[in-house]
Amino acid sequence: MQFQWSQLVFLIAGSRSIAALQQQHIGTDDLKAKCSAFSGELQIPDATVYLSEVVAAGTNLSLPDYNVTCGNPYQIVPKEICRLSLYVATSNRSGINMEAWLPFEWTGRFLSVGNGGLAGCIGYNDIAYGSSLGFASVGANNGHNGTSGGAFYNNADVLEDFAYRSVHTGVVVGKQITEAFYGSSHKKSYYLGCSTGGRQGFKSAQDFPDDFDGIVAGAPAIAFNNLTSWSGHFYPITGPVNSSTFVPQNLWPVIHADVLERCDALDNFVDGILEDASLCNYTASNLLCGSNSNASACLTEEQVNTVNQIYAPLLASDGSLIYPRMQPGSEILASRILYGGAVFPYTTDWFRYAVYNDINWDPTKINNTDYETAARTNPFNIQTWEGDLSAVQKRGAKILHWHGQMDAIISSDNSPRYYEHVSETMGLSSADLDDFYRYFRVGGTGHCSGGDGAWAIGQNLNAFDSLAPGENILMAIVDWVENGNAPDTLIGTKWNNGTQSAGVDYKRAHCKYPLRNRFKGEGDAKDIEAWECVE
Ligand SMILES: *[C@@H]1O[C@H](CO)[C@@H](O)[C@H](O)[C@H]1NC(C)=O
Ligand SMILES: *[C@@H]1O[C@H](CO)[C@@H](O)[C@H](O)[C@H]1NC(C)=O
Ligand SMILES: *[C@@H]1O[C@H](CO)[C@@H](O)[C@H](O)[C@H]1NC(C)=O
Ligand SMILES: *[C@@H]1O[C@H](CO)[C@@H](O)[C@H](O)[C@H]1NC(C)=O
Ligand SMILES: *[C@@H]1O[C@H](CO)[C@@H](O)[C@H](O)[C@H]1NC(C)=O
Ligand SMILES: *[C@@H]1O[C@H](CO)[C@@H](O)[C@H](O)[C@H]1NC(C)=O
Ligand SMILES: *[C@@H]1O[C@H](CO)[C@@H](O)[C@H](O)[C@H]1NC(C)=O
Ligand SMILES: *[C@@H]1O[C@H](CO)[C@@H](O)[C@H](O)[C@H]1NC(C)=O
Ligand SMILES: *[C@@H]1O[C@H](CO)[C@@H](O)[C@H](O)[C@H]1NC(C)=O
Ligand SMILES: *[C@@H]1O[C@H](CO)[C@@H](O)[C@H](O)[C@H]1NC(C)=O
Repeated sequence: MQFQWSQLVFLIAGSRSIAALQQQHIGTDDLKAKCSAFSGELQIPDATVYLSEVVAAGTNLSLPDYNVTCGNPYQIVPKEICRLSLYVATSNRSGINMEAWLPFEWTGRFLSVGNGGLAGCIGYNDIAYGSSLGFASVGANNGHNGTSGGAFYNNADVLEDFAYRSVHTGVVVGKQITEAFYGSSHKKSYYLGCSTGGRQGFKSAQDFPDDFDGIVAGAPAIAFNNLTSWSGHFYPITGPVNSSTFVPQNLWPVIHADVLERCDALDNFVDGILEDASLCNYTASNLLCGSNSNASACLTEEQVNTVNQIYAPLLASDGSLIYPRMQPGSEILASRILYGGAVFPYTTDWFRYAVYNDINWDPTKINNTDYETAARTNPFNIQTWEGDLSAVQKRGAKILHWHGQMDAIISSDNSPRYYEHVSETMGLSSADLDDFYRYFRVGGTGHCSGGDGAWAIGQNLNAFDSLAPGENILMAIVDWVENGNAPDTLIGTKWNNGTQSAGVDYKRAHCKYPLRNRFKGEGDAKDIEAWECVE
């Protein structure tokens, strides 16, 4: 399988059993009539409304202007909505394109979704998800169109939109639209995002604590400059394809098998899944070719060294940590992306267009000078590493943070690092943090979705088996915010062959940090009850 760059765009990222916050007072027919005339009536400073239209449930909506690098130019609309498309200027040389999808069966809830990578791509799939569950849902294009960071070049305002202003502007405007459309303001406000979207969720928590009552932040791209350095540091380690340091694709399944051999049993059950990858200290020394080795299943000394460097943290020249190591377990997919013998496009773009504003910067020579410059430059505080979440805590807002344990793009070792940073900064124990901030390790899960295990936790439209809060992270944050039911686990679904249509294979409860998931030692491992969260 060839990895598609367009997949990175989706690095993003309700229940009828939870009663709607308010019954709607305006009839659906009135809202439909209002929708058609809405673009002409709406008065929002700096905004130009392009269209407002009723879109019927089941419509395959054509998106002819969606940038070709963003993915499919269409979206299935699960439930009938009033669709708004608009532009909002953020400066005299920047602005966001955004959409508001307003369901006629409104729960009184507002939802903003995030973006992925460096991309400027509206998260249509996510606003389809939110609106189908009764949220008035908005998504913005992050201030530019397409997956490249080229738009940052010579325009710090576009960069500022990317760092924080696109989501915040979309929320401010989106709440005004919601109130104008329904004739009453939203009752609770939510955020859903993964990857860059996870970073945007934490940016909101850190700098715009009034924007949301509940935030779901998956696989967050926090410590963003350092992450981007780390993503770029693999190329100098592997070298180009066919160099003596390069580890070819066919050897990575062998390395993966060795990782499992060494670490799969640490959770007390051998099933190809590391429930807590942070426990696995991996080196490839066992695979060094000897005189009797199978030549297609062993590594040269240089290749062993490459693998060991991949699984070592990235350090600055003074020895301080820039970014944690890649967690073992994700190597089969990562070998096609980060270890594929090519520079990482987002790193190239970030240094060329954001850090140096120099289109001639050479990503093949990336080194500590670059890493340290990026961390120091930190455009618009994109690092997103503030440890003080007291404003969120005081408001009573809630954060659900999660990270897949076989993430091939953003190391899951970075997430507990942030959690501990918050704990230390605020002087709060895990028990204290539990009141407003909970972090979950999601075993067998790749970057935002996919993976070998029970990865479907309700993180997007194509990733849930149930809308019950215990099994659906969006409904879980709603249940926590509105009913005070804080989740202790997130139940994920593993589908047969990884495909929903093939039916459920098993479900597994993912544990709240710092607890970790462990097989009890007896019973059927596909049974949720056969596992427990332990110290
Ligand atoms: C939606 O339309 C596009 C073409 O515009 C088509 O490729 C796609 O298969 C359609 N999707 C469905 C589910 O009908
Ligand atoms: C981005 O795409 C939208 C259509 O989705 C278009 O209206 C807008 O002009 C584009 N913006 C830029 C800066 O190219
Ligand atoms: C754009 O706004 C900036 C201030 O944000 C101002 O310095 C600049 O002169 C303006 N440029 C134009 C062309 O209006
Ligand atoms: C689409 O995105 C690519 C990559 O970000 C960009 O180079 C191109 O200009 C965009 N096209 C349009 C029409 O905006
Ligand atoms: C690597 O070597 C193989 C076999 O010699 C060759 O087919 C391939 O083109 C080479 N790839 C690169 C990128 O040089
Ligand atoms: C991994 O390394 C850490 C730190 O050296 C050590 O505390 C831990 O016991 C090791 N884990 C395993 C499974 O060997
Ligand atoms: C050598 O290793 C390869 C890759 O793991 C495997 O397919 C093959 O069967 C092995 N050959 C022998 C003789 O063990
Ligand atoms: C290290 O990076 C700096 C800044 O990009 C560059 O000027 C320098 O040439 C690089 N050093 C090496 C040895 O490649
Ligand atoms: C980022 O890297 C710099 C070294 O360049 C280090 O000083 C800093 O602590 C790192 N920040 C985070 C959040 O990891
Ligand atoms: C499993 O999924 C793959 C695509 O991911 C498909 O090609 C294959 O037919 C599926 N197998 C079964 C038994 O469903």
